[in-house]
Amino acid sequence: MCGIIGCNGVEGAASAITQGLERLEYRGYDSAGIAIIDNKKIRYEKKKGRISVLIKALKTQSDFVGSIGIGHTRWATHGKPSDENAHPHISGKFAVVHNGIIENYRQLKEKYLKLVSLKSDTDTEIIVQLLNRLYSGNCLETLSNTAKLLEGSFAIAVLCEDEPDTLYCVRKSSPLLIGVGNGVYAASDLSAINDRIHTLYRMNDGEIAVISKTEAEFYTFDKKKIVKNPEEFEKAESNCGKENYEHYMLKEIYEQPAAVQKTVDAYLENNKFRLDFELNKPERIYIVACGSAYHAGLAGKRIFEELLKIPVIVQVASEFRYSNPLINENTPTIIISQSGETADSLAALREAKSRGAKTLSIVNVRHSSIAAESDYVLLTRAGQETAVATTKAYSAQLAALYMLGIYFAEKFGTADSKTTEKLKSQLETLHTAILSALDCEMQIKELAQQLQSAEHIYFIGRGLGYAAACEGSLKLKEISYIHCEAYAAGEMKHGTISLIEKGTNVIAADTEPKLSPKLQSNIDEVVARGARVTAITSQGKIKADSVIKTPAVNELFAVSTQIVPLQLLSYHIARLRGCDIDKPRNLAKSVTVE
Ligand code: G6P
Repeated sequence: MCGIIGCNGVEGAASAITQGLERLEYRGYDSAGIAIIDNKKIRYEKKKGRISVLIKALKTQSDFVGSIGIGHTRWATHGKPSDENAHPHISGKFAVVHNGIIENYRQLKEKYLKLVSLKSDTDTEIIVQLLNRLYSGNCLETLSNTAKLLEGSFAIAVLCEDEPDTLYCVRKSSPLLIGVGNGVYAASDLSAINDRIHTLYRMNDGEIAVISKTEAEFYTFDKKKIVKNPEEFEKAESNCGKENYEHYMLKEIYEQPAAVQKTVDAYLENNKFRLDFELNKPERIYIVACGSAYHAGLAGKRIFEELLKIPVIVQVASEFRYSNPLINENTPTIIISQSGETADSLAALREAKSRGAKTLSIVNVRHSSIAAESDYVLLTRAGQETAVATTKAYSAQLAALYMLGIYFAEKFGTADSKTTEKLKSQLETLHTAILSALDCEMQIKELAQQLQSAEHIYFIGRGLGYAAACEGSLKLKEISYIHCEAYAAGEMKHGTISLIEKGTNVIAADTEPKLSPKLQSNIDEVVARGARVTAITSQGKIKADSVIKTPAVNELFAVSTQIVPLQLLSYHIARLRGCDIDKPRNLAKSVTVE
């Protein structure tokens, strides 16, 4: 949510920054801006709209040159998307870009900036106005004094005309990485700078980076120097482009077999797990996440309870963190997050740790805050995911949860070895079933034609089918803007069935054979009221207006195959409706604010 980038000692800083911004655009795309120091003067440009609008505006300016600069792509929190509210914000000799929220900005304005008339509606402008107001002639000192006044979350990059060869960065609770290569870079995530650097540092909360043309020094907010070791990192994959696909989302749907295979292969070889989590059988387990990761957690709950025979509580992170959760040192807490930076999930992790729980994160981004702060990490191997609507990372999360379920069942002795051995060998070939599930695309395209004008679509399922329904519904609503609701099929008759009338579309996910007769009854109930039902099933016993067959897999893994037609359906409906599939309105891929 908001992407920031900065660089120093880089020939053609403006183009390095705009290139980085294009890679960060998934974090927010309602406006963008850039500032550089050219001949000791700050020059800047900022525009409402996509990065492409900013780049077009920069092209009309012949002399936008300099080797130091900062850039920003915005997801609006305070103040609507507009040129004025776009970053950078400027005051006196300072330019600032910011990712996060300054929670006490009204109080700071009242106390320190009463007479200042602000140019924007943003919380960020308070930072730059404070820097200008508190400026002592020493940037580090002023930044340290300012940072100590700010409450909330912030990753900030700062330019000051008095120090035209130094870039400053500050971090508290919002991600920021520093990389050294041909010049020195700062960025919200590695993808923006990966190909430009050979050494990587991760900023921690409460740190200031002082960046020269060749190196970075780190300080606490009290200006005490910190010695920091570089992090290991992998150079960018070469297949980060769209290749021949029309959208990243479709490419990533097709990358799911590989994402699942790589994730499983990383931790399971010859039916043996390469996992080492020191946990005794607990009384219960918490799973905490947001969005699709939460939906993966819903499937995880069902699988864990089946295999571990202990209660599993799944909670959305924004609720968990304020719910006084019933956890202690005997309640392991699993955090699931593609980005590893989701603010609520990170706060939930910290909450669980503060209560003594052992924490285990399932993350896709190695250098993320959640990975860094967890006791144990299971890294999914989905590779970089660019479309805002997650597909392959979600599938990799499911695979990670299957592995954990089987691993813990073996470790705690809660399932017999015949069962766990069979599950492990089935898991090793799950990617081939996902590959076959992709064969349904032609049928899905026809279904998308029929459903493209629907105003409402209901998704129903039982057991793991309900978990699949939740994710299918979220996928469709987020990229097509059709109102969708997911319901536990048996619960429809307690209210929601009143919305079913002639022609209402219902999609049913049939995952567990023992629940199929019950699901069929629920399908019949909505059909009796005029609904048009599409069923996703591997069994062929379900009767509905349309049936999409998925490959037969162990019922515990069925969400992994059934989600494929649901993702493709969302994609094709959104495409027919002319939606901006990879960057849906109002959303961002990495949600780093509460
Ligand atoms: C955003 C994304 C979703 C994602 C959720 C959680 O809402 O658009 O696709 O599921 O955040 O993100 P995380 O990175 O924690 O998995």
